[in-house]
Amino acid sequence: VIKGFAFDMDGVLADTARFHTIAWRKIADEVGTTWTKELEEGLKGIDRMGSLALIISAGRHDDEYDQSAREALAEKKNTNYRELISTLTPADILPGMQQFLDELKAANYQLSVASASKNAPFIIERLGLADYFEAVVDPASVAAGKPDPAIFAAAAKVLNLEPEQVIGLEDSAAGIQSINGAGEISVGIGNANVLAEADVNFDKTADVTLNAIKVALDSK
Ligand code: G6P
Ligand code: MG
Repeated sequence: VIKGFAFDMDGVLADTARFHTIAWRKIADEVGTTWTKELEEGLKGIDRMGSLALIISAGRHDDEYDQSAREALAEKKNTNYRELISTLTPADILPGMQQFLDELKAANYQLSVASASKNAPFIIERLGLADYFEAVVDPASVAAGKPDPAIFAAAAKVLNLEPEQVIGLEDSAAGIQSINGAGEISVGIGNANVLAEADVNFDKTADVTLNAIKVALDSK
């Protein structure tokens, strides 16, 4: 029996994926890596240093950046990103998600956030969503980032639930792998080809309701 939901944040609750893209593109330009749609998609769900490593590798610049140079670039990206998200308001909640959260609360489900972002508490607060969640998992507290199952496993644990009792929602391929690896039911939101491993998939956040999830799972 499902008792809880674990939410990714960027691209699921918050319309922030576009800000990550703006800030990472500047870094890609600086290191000389060509920006592609594939690179952009592959960064979703990946933590800050991991994303930077992918950008550097995509342009074959690995040898040019040591650890301290990487830390400086990551810091620069985050400073720019923090500026972009400083103006977030509840209007930046993705379509339908507040209604979905209301629906889940009314039905007494337990909710947690499983975001790779160290900025998650700030963003959840800016969006006015803090009261919906029993817990926000600290990504620094898990041994490995998505696609490793650790963060979604932790998102069930903080709710005192078994993985089988939890549904995870994600817009990234790495995140779907993390949910599946943790033994939870995975709901993908976005391109069904990219999220092919999800148990069920929706094109966009506005399509996600409790009933739509039930119907999709029943027809599997
Ligand atoms: C999320 C986003 C990624 C981002 C990561 C780390 O998973 O999908 O694009 O790189 O969080 O975010 P942070 O705010 O800690 O740099
Ligand atoms: Mg995401």
